[in-house]
Amino acid sequence: DQEKEALLYRSVREFPDFPAPGVLFRDITPVLKSPEAFTASIDLFEGYVRKNFPQVDAIAGLDSRGFLFGPLLAQRLGIGFVLIRKKGKLPGPTESVSYSLEYGKAEIEIQSDAVDPGQKIVIIDDLLATGGTMKAAIELLQCKNAEILSCLVLIELTSLKGAEKLQPHRVHSLLQYD
Ligand code: PRP
Ligand code: HPA
Repeated sequence: DQEKEALLYRSVREFPDFPAPGVLFRDITPVLKSPEAFTASIDLFEGYVRKNFPQVDAIAGLDSRGFLFGPLLAQRLGIGFVLIRKKGKLPGPTESVSYSLEYGKAEIEIQSDAVDPGQKIVIIDDLLATGGTMKAAIELLQCKNAEILSCLVLIELTSLKGAEKLQPHRVHSLLQYD
């Protein structure tokens, strides 16, 4: 697992002042481009969930980069994948929550029938910054009376203290940056 983690650290690039001045953007596209690194990321997520949350019923992924990892993880675990999308993209009855981002404001939503009451959910995204997006996702799933087991991210930007905002829910990140 240490080798897989090291491979992932080598695969993430950084771009200063994107998409706004003062933001150091961590770019995961090289992870996706490398079959070895991409597989390593899913291996690590899978190992963590199997060990800690074998009772999981479904993976919920955050629009849009949570969709890159979530379905692969769900397939490995033999469970379903649920979409939490930016507002206006999902048909039928939905619930929505608005939140603020490291660089902007947004609103996410879920289809009203996406999860059943009491279902045990693991949420996944590529990156935790301020935690606003993940917090909104937790609120959405809680309003559906789902049980949130864990929040998974490839990258956690620790200095933004997003994990604190999510308490008592726990975040598991594969990579941490200041
Ligand atoms: C990014 C990232 C997370 C979120 C993290 O997504 O993929 O979802 O921001 O920021 P936060 O912890 O401060 O909320 P973005 O909203 O840029 O959308 P995208 O995935 O569609 O690019
Ligand atoms: N990188 C990628 N996505 C992000 C970042 C970042 O630094 N901050 C918020 N979303």
